[in-house]
Amino acid sequence: MLAVHNLRLQFGGRTLFEDVNLKFSPGNCYGVIGANGAGKSTFIKILSGVIEPTAGSIEISPGERVAVLKQNHFEFDEEEVLKTVILGHKELCSIMVEKDALYAKEDFSDEDGIRASELESRFAELNGWEAEAEAGALLAGLGIGTDLHTKKMKDLSGGEKVKILLAQALFGKPEILLLDEPTNDLDLKAVQWLENFIADQEHSTILVVSHDRHFLNQVCTHICDIDFRKIKLFVGNYDFWYKSSQLAQRMLSDQNKKTEEKMKDLKEFIQRFSANASKSKQATGRKKLLEKLTLNDIEPSTRKYPFVGFTQAREAGDQLLRVENLSLTIDGEVMFKNLSFTLKKGHKTVFLADSEMKTKALFQVLMGERKPDTGDIQWGITTSRGYMPADHNHFFQDDSLDLINWLRQYSTDQTETYLRGFLGRMLFSGEEAKKKCTVLSGGEKVRCMLSKIMQEGHNVLVFENPTNHLDLETITALNDGMIDYKGTLLFTSHDHEFIQTIANRVIEILPYGSKDQECTYDQYLGLAQ
Ligand SMILES: Nc1ncnc2c1ncn2[C@@H]1O[C@H](COP(=O)(O)OP(=O)(O)O)[C@@H](O)[C@H]1O
Ligand SMILES: [Mg+2]
Repeated sequence: MLAVHNLRLQFGGRTLFEDVNLKFSPGNCYGVIGANGAGKSTFIKILSGVIEPTAGSIEISPGERVAVLKQNHFEFDEEEVLKTVILGHKELCSIMVEKDALYAKEDFSDEDGIRASELESRFAELNGWEAEAEAGALLAGLGIGTDLHTKKMKDLSGGEKVKILLAQALFGKPEILLLDEPTNDLDLKAVQWLENFIADQEHSTILVVSHDRHFLNQVCTHICDIDFRKIKLFVGNYDFWYKSSQLAQRMLSDQNKKTEEKMKDLKEFIQRFSANASKSKQATGRKKLLEKLTLNDIEPSTRKYPFVGFTQAREAGDQLLRVENLSLTIDGEVMFKNLSFTLKKGHKTVFLADSEMKTKALFQVLMGERKPDTGDIQWGITTSRGYMPADHNHFFQDDSLDLINWLRQYSTDQTETYLRGFLGRMLFSGEEAKKKCTVLSGGEKVRCMLSKIMQEGHNVLVFENPTNHLDLETITALNDGMIDYKGTLLFTSHDHEFIQTIANRVIEILPYGSKDQECTYDQYLGLAQ
């Protein structure tokens, strides 16, 4: 069991949360949500003992082990992969080291023998003999093959490292598991594996920060919402929390509206008749009534919902895109071979592949940024294409541009009001819009790119992983905008719900050709009829 008592955290003059009293129990998985900067990571760090709270305390049942997904991707650079996973269990590792040292001794004494047998029995209790097999199974689930087991961490790619650090956190079935954004760099298959893994942990207490709504819905029994300087616990998954919080907010404001109207009526009556002798008694009665009416405080939430809407300057004709026998090999690796497909107006196609390199290369070829080895691409002459690659840092290199001038580069309407309108939809208002484009965070860059594409009015949009770096509110807004868009979409994503609610066609790039179906993602996966 994990509990916090009277917890408060303050950075300088700013209080992130206070008076937090919560208990987290085994068998439950708690999804930690909140706006960007609300304090999710900070809360996880407090629970794992990395940060001291300003006030209050943390209680952990004796004998329970806390495991955390490490954020420092370089910490284990000199270790081998399999060893790094097992290092997740410190006690087990120190027993292994001590045992090895004892057995390596030349003058092995009686005392050494006693110590060795103590170590052996604790080692067996901790399932030490199974350690390598368990570590291997975790890695296999995440798609890391045995060929990598003896590689050094520093020789792996960023994506591989994340998977190994995740396996490290999961290793040895910790009683308490703290995961801060575990799905960020995982591919769809690995996310699915993690969903199943978490669902199987019947005896662990799990807290997970995530922006992936499908993931939160699959794994969470509770939602822990950081807002209004409080941390509140709700039973149920993310969708349930979202609906009930919207409902509560709406009921509160509806009620306030009614009360305000009533107050207005009463005030008018009092004003009109308090000087009137025959009605002054009634007026006094209403004054008392008015005094009793109060408005519920609606505190402003730290959450802000941006607005995403894509309109087309003009509609495209029916002939949209024809791709024939497209093939490309990069550095000896086949990206796609003999790929052919035709897109019609209104198709919202998600592209899948076993590696992101392949969908990236395909989009680059489709957008004319890279030449294919063979094959033909024909865009309809009426199409106008808006492209957001996953890596868009090169758009943000000019130090002299604030956001208004940054957006001005891409706009025919040069007026500040017009440009501010589009930036405002993405929550850059007032001084925010005067920031330099070079200082933006990952999520802010995506929001700028969306402002740019929104005002360009294309009838085809090509988006590579658009939800990367975004918070839940912006993902929801973008998701809605892409559902409502009347044009044609080509996109990739790691976000299951995003794909499921947007795509009406799925094209999976296979070693030779593709699998191509007009259906939803769940239908494609065989999850729905
Ligand atoms: N060591 C620190 N000193 C001062 N402010 C900090 C520190 N660490 C984080 N913050 C601020 O506290 C807020 C919460 O941060 P964090 O917990 O990382 O947010 P998130 O909910 O996005 O994970 C942010 O505004 C951040 O800038
Ligand atoms: Mg965080």
